[in-house]
Amino acid sequence: MSERTAVREKPERVELDTLRERLVHLGLAHAAEVLSSEISDGVKHNRASHVVVDRLLASEMTYREERRMRTSLRLSNLPGGMTLGNFDFGFQAGIDRRQIETLATCAFVGEKSSLILQGPPGVGKTHLATALGVKAIEHGFSVAFYRLEDLLHEMRKDAHVPPARLRRKKYFNVAYLVIDEVGFEPMDREDASLFFRLVSYRYRRGSTAITTNKSIKDWPGIFAGDDAMTAAILDRLLHKSVVLNIRGRSYRLQELERLLK
Ligand SMILES: Nc1ncnc2c1ncn2[C@@H]1O[C@H](COP(=O)(O)OP(=O)(O)OP(=O)(O)O)[C@@H](O)[C@H]1O
Ligand SMILES: [Mg+2]
Repeated sequence: MSERTAVREKPERVELDTLRERLVHLGLAHAAEVLSSEISDGVKHNRASHVVVDRLLASEMTYREERRMRTSLRLSNLPGGMTLGNFDFGFQAGIDRRQIETLATCAFVGEKSSLILQGPPGVGKTHLATALGVKAIEHGFSVAFYRLEDLLHEMRKDAHVPPARLRRKKYFNVAYLVIDEVGFEPMDREDASLFFRLVSYRYRRGSTAITTNKSIKDWPGIFAGDDAMTAAILDRLLHKSVVLNIRGRSYRLQELERLLK
């Protein structure tokens, strides 16, 4: 009897449990979970064995990617419900859709450019900075969102942390940092200097998005009236930057008007 016939007569039996254990051992826990359904589906639809294996691996990859997105979104602190998908470009005619779509490729994050979104209340500054954060996470970048007040609170606590440990702080090392609501309250000298330290550290190391209601010429008023410090901050932020000056109506007011009608 040839070896071939022997193999055919005595087919190798692999128990599903053994296969599942191997997958778990290799760290493919999700594939282990869907193994039996993929195999029975494969039999039902008469799929070739390589297709079954491919579907199993693809399912593991999709599961991992979704888990990574969920974890990164949670850690980023980005506000929920603000994506490019639900941004109404028709409402805000002053926004160049193509420019936002270019930003959504996240090349600017890779280039460590800054993004400054300025304009009056309700025009979509936070929405756009956040939606680009979601895109950045999709592209695999680390992201963090802070309202300025919360960021200053963190930075004050860390004011005396030695530089080597400071580098591990999220607001220092994420690829894309959103600082929301800059300019609502003027900063005192200490806060302005903490802000300068942050901008200075992140210069050429990461991308920083700032939303503000103040136009750049009024920035000395934000930073304790210190022209020299403001110039140093702006110099770093504007060196490589995109400035979006959003002029338009408040989406909040428009929603209110609709409700009142
Ligand atoms: N063009 C738009 N399409 C859909 N929703 C929008 C649009 N613009 C704003 N919104 C929504 O309106 C609300 C206010 O927008 P957002 O928070 O981005 O305003 P803002 O410019 O940051 O205002 P503020 O200066 O008061 O912080 C949010 O819930 C946001 O999702
Ligand atoms: Mg806002």
